Amino acid sequence: RRVALVFGGRSDEHAISCATAASVLRALDRDRYAVVPVGITREGHWVLVDDDPQALDIRDGRLPSVADTGRRVIVPLGGVEHEWTWVDAAGEVHPLGEVDVVFPLLHGPFGEDGTIQGLLELADLPYVGCGVMASAAMMDKHVMKVLFASAGLPVGPYALITDRQWQRDRAAALDAASGLRFPVFVKPARAGSSVGVVKVERPEDLEVAVDKARDHDPKVLVEQGIEGREIECGVLGGRGSDPPRVSECGEIVVSGAHDFYDFEAKYLDEESVQITAPADIPPPIREEIHRIAALAFEVADAEGLSRVDCFVTPRGEVVLNEINTMPGFTPYSMYPQAWAASGMSYPELVDELITLALE
Ligand code: DAL
Ligand code: MG
Repeated sequence: RRVALVFGGRSDEHAISCATAASVLRALDRDRYAVVPVGITREGHWVLVDDDPQALDIRDGRLPSVADTGRRVIVPLGGVEHEWTWVDAAGEVHPLGEVDVVFPLLHGPFGEDGTIQGLLELADLPYVGCGVMASAAMMDKHVMKVLFASAGLPVGPYALITDRQWQRDRAAALDAASGLRFPVFVKPARAGSSVGVVKVERPEDLEVAVDKARDHDPKVLVEQGIEGREIECGVLGGRGSDPPRVSECGEIVVSGAHDFYDFEAKYLDEESVQITAPADIPPPIREEIHRIAALAFEVADAEGLSRVDCFVTPRGEVVLNEINTMPGFTPYSMYPQAWAASGMSYPELVDELITLALE
């Protein structure tokens, strides 16, 4: 089987995608899969890159990126043929062979949001992960919360600030958040890895935080901070009638200089973050998280994989924070660690995801 691994991309999570790709490149069983490594530069060029995981790692605080090799990849649309090609600087076309399945290892906008999924639907190619609707809806934290709440899932209090509201009347837009208890988290509606997220302790600091979030998305959410432990759960699911499978829960403990699980803590400061899987939680809470994770996956109409992030309050209530339809797979990431705690190794997990895509 030939797997096209697509990574990088135009979103702020470009580097995380590269690091994820490095791990997947290392883990793929080369006796079973031939790999076509396709990078998307920050500008959005699709280029054929070398099969070189080392170049894509996060190392010594250096964030990797896709270099423009000049070898432009062409994906045929219409679903009539699956022969990919690449074009050199002189315009000469070179064959890249047939692709059987695509692994879009992309996080954030233009990757996790239904856009590339739509492209792959047009190309009639099987791909790993969620389809167009689930990807788009779950990328948007507002739409996600509305859908989850409608299914009776426990989402926390939040306020929405749309672009038009902000342009029209900032004070009125901020007033939407006046019912929330501080601290709050101001977030771009469609971003990930805590990019653009600001923890705000006082109402007077809200406006600056909204402006900062708006650098990443004109649609902004203000979420009431939830006191509690951060517990996450991996989900795997096929297209058949089998219920989604849930992993052991994992816990994230952030210490040191980080006020919350921000970008730095996630990827650049190994010392300050501890991931424990399985999490040390009482069995009824574990069961409740598993119920919530599986239901969230269903409600989202998710496929393939997702990671469901919850808070467990001191009173033992579980609050659903979010679902990520293409969770990070870096060595620092929860998703593979949670599955490892459930007895599925990283290579097995990658293999399972490709198998699900080809179902
Ligand atoms: N958005 C990052 C990659 C995650 O959810 O793991
Ligand atoms: Mg999260």
